[in-house]
Amino acid sequence: MIECVNIEKVYRIGEVETYALRSATLSVADGEFISITGPSGSGKSTLMNIIGCLDTPTNGEYRLSGEDVSGFDPDELALIRNSKIGFVFQSFHLLRRASVLRNVALPLVYAGLARSQRNERAAQALRASSFPEKFWNHMPNQLSGGMMQRVAIARALVNNPLLILADEPTGNLDTKTGDMILDTLQRLHRDEHRTIVLITHEAYVAEHAQRIIQVRDGSIVDDTVIKKRRVATIHEPV
Ligand SMILES: Nc1ncnc2c1ncn2[C@@H]1O[C@H](COP(=O)(O)OP(=O)(O)OP(=O)(O)O)[C@@H](O)[C@H]1O
Ligand SMILES: [Mg+2]
Repeated sequence: MIECVNIEKVYRIGEVETYALRSATLSVADGEFISITGPSGSGKSTLMNIIGCLDTPTNGEYRLSGEDVSGFDPDELALIRNSKIGFVFQSFHLLRRASVLRNVALPLVYAGLARSQRNERAAQALRASSFPEKFWNHMPNQLSGGMMQRVAIARALVNNPLLILADEPTGNLDTKTGDMILDTLQRLHRDEHRTIVLITHEAYVAEHAQRIIQVRDGSIVDDTVIKKRRVATIHEPV
């Protein structure tokens, strides 16, 4: 699914060059659940932006499902994102003035689907992320953090993506609520065979994946398959 070969990312601000990634090489098979971990500033989000086709590498090659996307222009990258990738962020990134259902249905507007089809698909995705139906017409500010993150997961699922990228999805949540989100990600991996890349600086969170990749100063310094994977504790629904 993911093949990064000698990826380098250099940010230039005036005269200053920052090597956010240096020669990162990584492959992830279809249906794997990996986590990427490392200290602040190590290059995790930079790597996720490249894997998620939000940005391109300065040097090196990135193939997604066999297609070399390293040289794609922004429009081509947007097409790939809309058809193949779902994103979940630490701060949810929901539209404040739109209901839960509209937030989830929004990516389908770009796919050109009719409203009734959009709502049908959004409803399916909300069910898949275990979001209770009685809150579908609520606005985001009427929801708890855990519920907002479930909406974000539903939105990430609505295009039926092969790949889900989650950047610190539990970073703004308490441990119990975070566990529910990790349980949802594990279920999407186990039952729906989605490929999941989870970015976190917390070892506890990283251990919910099958494999942990450690990034330090822009390089991958460790890549380990976990023998005893942590299973998220399932609590009562929110
Ligand atoms: N748009 C940018 N312009 C300039 N430098 C950047 C930019 N984005 C990231 N960097 C730099 O690249 C390096 C890696 O940043 P990155 O955001 O990938 O780290 P991170 O591991 O995600 O950190 P955190 O855990 O704090 O989110 C840092 O030194 C950062 O300052
Ligand atoms: Mg980051």
